[in-house]
Amino acid sequence: MNAELQPSTMAPHRPSRSPGAEAEASALPPARELESAVEATDFSFWYGSNQALDSISLTVPARKVTALIGPSGCGKSTFLRSINRMNDLIPGIRHEGDITLHGDSVYRNDRDVVQLRKSVGMVFQKSNPFPKSIYQNVAYGPKVNRLVRGRAEMDELVERSLRRAALWDEVKDRLDSSALGLSGGQQQRLCIARALAVSPEVILMDEPASALDPVATQKIEELIYELKHEYTILIVTHNMQQAARVSDYTAFFYMGRLIEMGRTQQLFTNPHEEQTEAYITGRFG
Ligand SMILES: Nc1ncnc2c1ncn2[C@@H]1O[C@H](COP(=O)(O)OP(=O)(O)OP(=O)(O)O)[C@@H](O)[C@H]1O
Ligand SMILES: [Mg+2]
Repeated sequence: MNAELQPSTMAPHRPSRSPGAEAEASALPPARELESAVEATDFSFWYGSNQALDSISLTVPARKVTALIGPSGCGKSTFLRSINRMNDLIPGIRHEGDITLHGDSVYRNDRDVVQLRKSVGMVFQKSNPFPKSIYQNVAYGPKVNRLVRGRAEMDELVERSLRRAALWDEVKDRLDSSALGLSGGQQQRLCIARALAVSPEVILMDEPASALDPVATQKIEELIYELKHEYTILIVTHNMQQAARVSDYTAFFYMGRLIEMGRTQQLFTNPHEEQTEAYITGRFG
């Protein structure tokens, strides 16, 4: 059995947050009352004849952290990738319904997908730095998007992005070394720095800490907490405690459907749906 789902470790469902964060959490309004960054409306998705998402309607509030939880294969990654159209490249896919970014359909015919992926960045479970230097990893996006002029401006952007990703102090003396020489946790923060360098509005994180040790995981969680003041973050996690710690809102997916979404504290302590309760208490999943 998955250790994180064992009843003993699940017993206190309440998020272990600081008193300030507790107060902040209890003051949160329902997600639909906030400015929305991403909105899915009756969104369904198929890989060939296999339907992965069934009529998902969901609001992702701006500058908050929203966690997606649910058992393996329930469509979390598919949903995340549908937001910045990373699924586009897979043959035989189709969708119905719509997803909007600030009210503008990401699927409209004349949508510039490169621009979309600049606005909606992504960080994956397995960190995937380019086999280039630390500096070049961060500079790559701004370069291809022509965001800066000249080396001095690029230096500044690289430093700012690495600082925001809480990595600067660890790498500032070896910016020209290969990114592949960094530890797993550092590589993941480098990938976050790379995503931040193009000034996204939304950051999609697909199990960003699942391959990391507890110390590196804590760094990523602290970083998410810092970043949410500026960015909208949507994070997939299998770790229930992590969802409780880092997110403001949580959406529970099951077999391609959204079962419920609510304030994280409410969803973990007092879920409306029996399936949610069963999942968070480790009775299945
Ligand atoms: N590239 C693909 N081609 C065909 N089917 C796919 C593809 N990717 C995912 N699927 C199927 O779509 C469904 C949803 O998969 P998805 O990866 O979105 O689930 P998930 O909730 O992210 O699972 P996990 O927690 O294991 O990462 C599954 O049935 C999966 O087999
Ligand atoms: Mg997945």
